[in-house]
Amino acid sequence: MSDKKTVAVADHYNAVVDDYHLNYDDDAHKTLPHYPANYFRLKMLKREVKKLGATSMYETGLGEGTPLAHMANMGLRVAGSDIAQNMVAAAKANFSRRGLDPDVVQIGNIDDPASYANQLEGGLFDAMMASGVLPHVADDQQALRNMRAIVRPGGSVFIEFRNKMFSLFTLNRFTKEFFLDELLPGVSAPIRDAVAQELDQRLATNLPPLRDKNEGGDGPGYDLIQANYHNPLELLEQFEKLGFSNMKIHWYHFHPAPPMLENAIGPAFREAAMQMEFDSSWRGMFLCSAGVVQAVRS
Ligand SMILES: C[S@@+](CC[C@H](N)C(=O)[O-])C[C@H]1O[C@@H](n2cnc3c(N)ncnc32)[C@H](O)[C@@H]1O
Repeated sequence: MSDKKTVAVADHYNAVVDDYHLNYDDDAHKTLPHYPANYFRLKMLKREVKKLGATSMYETGLGEGTPLAHMANMGLRVAGSDIAQNMVAAAKANFSRRGLDPDVVQIGNIDDPASYANQLEGGLFDAMMASGVLPHVADDQQALRNMRAIVRPGGSVFIEFRNKMFSLFTLNRFTKEFFLDELLPGVSAPIRDAVAQELDQRLATNLPPLRDKNEGGDGPGYDLIQANYHNPLELLEQFEKLGFSNMKIHWYHFHPAPPMLENAIGPAFREAAMQMEFDSSWRGMFLCSAGVVQAVRS
């Protein structure tokens, strides 16, 4: 919590707590200013947890607690933590309102296992989930090791990441960065410069605009906090090295066209995106801005 970027992450989430539950509302999610990606992620998580037959679930970065409350209502023993104190307060209120025990959620940082060690005293969990956490941690390996340690051997993790491959579909400055930083890092400077000049002609490198304010306009925007993208292929290799097996990726937040076309296409853009959710083909690797790695602690 002493790290400056981590404080900013908590500041961002502390300021978006009030409307966060609308992401999961069966009606309200349809008219949010942003795409209701979380709504589809929760549906997928519930489906997969049911398939597993897990009886307990830990959530790091539980936010205002609606996803974990859904798991509790499915009959799972649950516990969770978050670095943002407003989120934890909202999660406690959310649990109480639903007749669930508010004491199973507390302040805790996945980078600091001592901060949530008390919640593991009743035994390791069958499953754990981390949505919106891996993008924000300073050391991926350490965070993934800590997440792994929350589940019993044979238990499963569900870890969300922001998809770097999506950059190949966006045709904006992220595409240029992907070419130069990911595909061509070892190529000589003159060739890279020629590629950069060509991409400047062909791509909308002025897009997307920086989100320096949150939707309500009264807190730091998402682009001001550390929010890393991950290459899914590298991520799967990393999971294997850290002692996970049976990895699969569940893709969500589909795009029927590059995001810069959303205004021109209008409401049909979002309708088409929602229709595409739950496609389990390879296309998600390029059309989705996020995914969840499901893996077993071997
Ligand atoms: C995008 S929100 C998602 C909340 C919830 N998981 C959900 O799906 O609705 C991410 C949450 O992770 C929390 N978070 C970020 N970094 C964290 C860390 N290092 N340890 C614990 N929580 C963290 C944030 O404060 C925020 O509440």
